[in-house]
Amino acid sequence: MSIIIQDNVFTLQTKNSTYQMKADSKGILLHTYYGKKTDASDYSYLVSMADRGFSGNIYEAREDRTYSLDFLPQEFPVCGSGDYRVDCLHADLGQGVSDCLMFFDSYQVSKGKYALEGLPAMFAKDGQKVDTLEIVLKDSQEELYLHLWYGVFEAYDIITRAVMIENRTDREVRLHKALSACLDMDHDGMDLIHFYGRHAGEREMERVPLFHGITELRSTRGTSSHQHNPFVILAAQNTTEDSGECYGFSLLYSGGFHMQAEVDQFHQTRLVMGIDDCDFTWSLQPGEKFVTPEVAMGYSSTGLAKLSHCYHDSFQHHLIRSSWKDKRRPILVNNWEATYFDFDVDKLLKIAREAADLELDMLVLDDGWFGKRDNDDSGLGDWFVNEDKLGCTLGALADQVNDLGLMFGLWFEPEMISEDSDLYRKHPDWAMVVPGRNPIRGRSQLVLDMTREDVLDYIKERLFAIMDSANIQYIKWDMNRSVAAAYSTLLPRERQGELRHRYVLGLYHVMEALLMRYPDLLLEGCSGGGGRFDAGMLYYAPQIWCSDNTDAVERLHIQYGTSFGYPMSSVSAHVSVCPNHQNGRVTPFQTRGICAMQGTFGYEMDLSKLTLEEKAQAKEQIRTFKKRYRLFQFGDYYRITSPLENRDFTAWEYADKEGKEAYMGVVFTDLHGNPAAHSVKFRGLRPEGIYKMWKDNELTGEYTGAALMNGGILLPVPKENYDSCQIYISCQSIVEDVVRE
Ligand code: DGJ
Repeated sequence: MSIIIQDNVFTLQTKNSTYQMKADSKGILLHTYYGKKTDASDYSYLVSMADRGFSGNIYEAREDRTYSLDFLPQEFPVCGSGDYRVDCLHADLGQGVSDCLMFFDSYQVSKGKYALEGLPAMFAKDGQKVDTLEIVLKDSQEELYLHLWYGVFEAYDIITRAVMIENRTDREVRLHKALSACLDMDHDGMDLIHFYGRHAGEREMERVPLFHGITELRSTRGTSSHQHNPFVILAAQNTTEDSGECYGFSLLYSGGFHMQAEVDQFHQTRLVMGIDDCDFTWSLQPGEKFVTPEVAMGYSSTGLAKLSHCYHDSFQHHLIRSSWKDKRRPILVNNWEATYFDFDVDKLLKIAREAADLELDMLVLDDGWFGKRDNDDSGLGDWFVNEDKLGCTLGALADQVNDLGLMFGLWFEPEMISEDSDLYRKHPDWAMVVPGRNPIRGRSQLVLDMTREDVLDYIKERLFAIMDSANIQYIKWDMNRSVAAAYSTLLPRERQGELRHRYVLGLYHVMEALLMRYPDLLLEGCSGGGGRFDAGMLYYAPQIWCSDNTDAVERLHIQYGTSFGYPMSSVSAHVSVCPNHQNGRVTPFQTRGICAMQGTFGYEMDLSKLTLEEKAQAKEQIRTFKKRYRLFQFGDYYRITSPLENRDFTAWEYADKEGKEAYMGVVFTDLHGNPAAHSVKFRGLRPEGIYKMWKDNELTGEYTGAALMNGGILLPVPKENYDSCQIYISCQSIVEDVVRE
């Protein structure tokens, strides 16, 4: 069992980490250890107590002035307890102030993994050891209960957490903040690694030392957002890709979030994470429960690459549940950058014929096929095929695409409504607009009230009708603005603070219904590219359009940042034309292919306009992706260089889990006269293996794994701007004593 309980000490063991809590003599649930695997000793001896000025003492401590929650490491700190640090819960029990104090009540251990109703959550699978611990806390005076849930994914060094708040009092409890997790650590000097960005420039990695005070990241946009990602890492200052301690926190939630990291007056570090509490309130009536989203915590004592592998593998096996997750993802061509809104059946079939000739797998029809939609000012909500524009029915188009040997996929933006739409003319109150006030528009569109059952019913009815009208195997689910000045006509005034979370629950409800009805549908997440690239979305969509920026060089940054917390098979990436539509940059066709193969591969261009040379290169790219997809989809991903540090080139590697083969992609990002030589080292190989190496498909020699990992290889000298190369190695034999020799 990965959960050991002795004298109210709760020790959670994974393969390489230990997490411990203790209900102390007062009944406060202390956090006593998280780090490198150790035994189940009671680590509360490390907690120091002292009479500290201006740190209040809870009444239950009686005369003991050394007992204060203001400095004790706690599992779930709440507001009203005399702890002035950032906390997880603000609950008004009826007096108009956030005031509660939670004490240990009971616990329960069970096999398998808890589930969260209506919310994404990691799950157990047959044959994989996962255990659940529930610890129940109760308010000192009232029947308010917290159920702290822990899921221990032993093999992956992942521990999940979520909280259920239960009101067993006879009156309303108002929640003003209800986060999912807290981690208290006794050390300072930690770096925060986080991923900030903007539309078309998501998940830029930044590493900053924490300071005395609060560092906070949040999205108030109703989505996880382009601007900040709900995945962060705390790392010791000396932690590198290959060494040192680091802790990951991934929130499985697609709405606004809040992360606070505080270094306190005694140099202790606390991190809290959960639903964004800006304008959040929740009215919890007697007998009701509120469930927070899940946080997946990961730990590595051997650097950032290992931490990423924990997330990649556990998400691949225990979060992504699509029937596509273990299959090779279709190589698709999407018509967005090829035609934008200007298409008909002939144009689409022309692209499809080229795609079939290149042996792609799917044609995706993007925005503009429904209602009145020739630009982005109108039509959203009118999910009826515009057959006049298309020139045929959707079913006929899909059939013709299928006849070419391709699957057919379709774009939707179900959560939106255009003011210029039949839907809006009929149901203006379905848009989330404050009555009597002008709306805040984004991309000329309004957001549908996803808290309303009639709205959800309409969306489902339209999605299902379109799905049933044609052979559709893929849906790209887009969302092209942030939520602002939101209001629901059906919620009373005092419940408007529930709107944003209810919106996300509505979104998950529709996605769940869609997948239940069409279990083999491949769903691709999208929000103006990567505005909703979060672990919650992966529960529904095994791949997410990573960014609207298709420039290969900017993608090096975006995909580098994304790789820290998300499996590369979830990173949707396409080859597009040059000059690039977002930034005008020109890069070689081969480089665009190599960058797109870093993730789930496809094209976003009019394939009929390819030159003969490009066509030959595309054929080669498609062959390579098909041949190597197992490595790309299931191998260990290594960030060989950082685009933030190395200005000359960026390299990454996929190594098969047994170290039998590996692939390295390299893109040169600068050119020099009389250039210095560059070398790179492989990772994850068998030192005693003898590997054959191919550079850009040319056999270049044989090396031992030890040589490739310790000595490395020389890179070719780039011949043009943004030149690139691919290196593939395959183990031919094992020579046991090669390292000694
Ligand atoms: C934003 C997406 O990220 C694009 O790929 C494209 O689908 C457009 N929306 C269509 O409006």
